[in-house]
Amino acid sequence: MHCVTTPSPPTPSASGRLVVHAVPLATDNLGWLVVADGQAAIVDGPEAGPVLAACDALGVVLTTVINTHTHGDHIGVNRDLARRGLLGGLRVIGPAAVAAQIPGLTDPVRPEQTIHFAGVPGRVILTEGHLDGHVSYHFEDLAFTGDALFTGGSGFLFSGPPSAMLEGLARLAALPPETWIFCAHEYTEDNLRFALTLEPDNPALVRRVADVAARRARGEATVPERLAVELATNPFLRTTSPELLASLARELPDAPLDTPVAVYAATRRLKDLKRHRR
Ligand SMILES: [Fe+2]
Repeated sequence: MHCVTTPSPPTPSASGRLVVHAVPLATDNLGWLVVADGQAAIVDGPEAGPVLAACDALGVVLTTVINTHTHGDHIGVNRDLARRGLLGGLRVIGPAAVAAQIPGLTDPVRPEQTIHFAGVPGRVILTEGHLDGHVSYHFEDLAFTGDALFTGGSGFLFSGPPSAMLEGLARLAALPPETWIFCAHEYTEDNLRFALTLEPDNPALVRRVADVAARRARGEATVPERLAVELATNPFLRTTSPELLASLARELPDAPLDTPVAVYAATRRLKDLKRHRR
C-alpha cells in the first residue's frame, strides 16, 4: 500500500500551459504526469500501470518519458512500458552521460540544454552526487528534482562526492523562490524530523513540521513544495545557518565545518546515522 492515500491536487504551471498530476507508485515513489494539449509526459517511476490508468482517467495520451537518473525505481517505468510493447513509440528524455542505461532513450540531454515538451521550453540542470548522470528539469515554475533535492532533505550519496551534490543543490537553490519542487519520493516527514534536531529554534521549520505531520496523519502528500519553503527549512540548503552549525559541532565534534562542502558532508553523515529516528 502506498504511504500517500490522498495525492496532491493538480498543479498548473505559471502560464497554465502545463498541469502536473501526482501518480503515487510502489510504496513511496511519486510519479509526476505533466499534461499539455492532450498529451502527457511521465517523470520517473518504478512501474507503468498506474501511469497508464491516470492517462486514461484524464483522457490524455502518454507520449513522453522523462528520466532524472538510472535507479530502478526511476527507469522501471521505461522497462514496464517496454514489456507492454508501448515504449517503442514514445519519446524518452534522459541524461546523455548514462545513455546506455536508459531503456528506449530517444533524446539524450546534457546539462544546460534546452528541451521542449508541448512547445514549453525546459532547462536541464546537472544535479549529481546521488548518482552519476543525475539531472533535474525546470519548466516555467516547475522543477523535477528526482532524488537530488527532496522536500525537507536531499538524496543519499550513492556516487558522491559531496561537492557534486552541493553544486547541484546550489543550482536548484538559485531558481526563483516561487518554483515548485517535485521530488520523486514522499519522505518529507522523516526529513523534517532530522532537520528539527539541527534547528529546533527555526520558527519556519517548527511551523512546517506541524503542518507536514498533520497532512501526513491524514494520508495526504506533502510534495510539491515551494523552493522558498525549502530555502527556509531544508538543512541541506542551509549550510550557513548559525544554529545548524552549532548543532553539527555538538553532534559531530570531529567533523570539519570550515567550508560549505564540509558542512554539507557533515549534515549528510549525521542524517545517515539515523539518530533522529530513535
Ligand atoms: Fe535514486
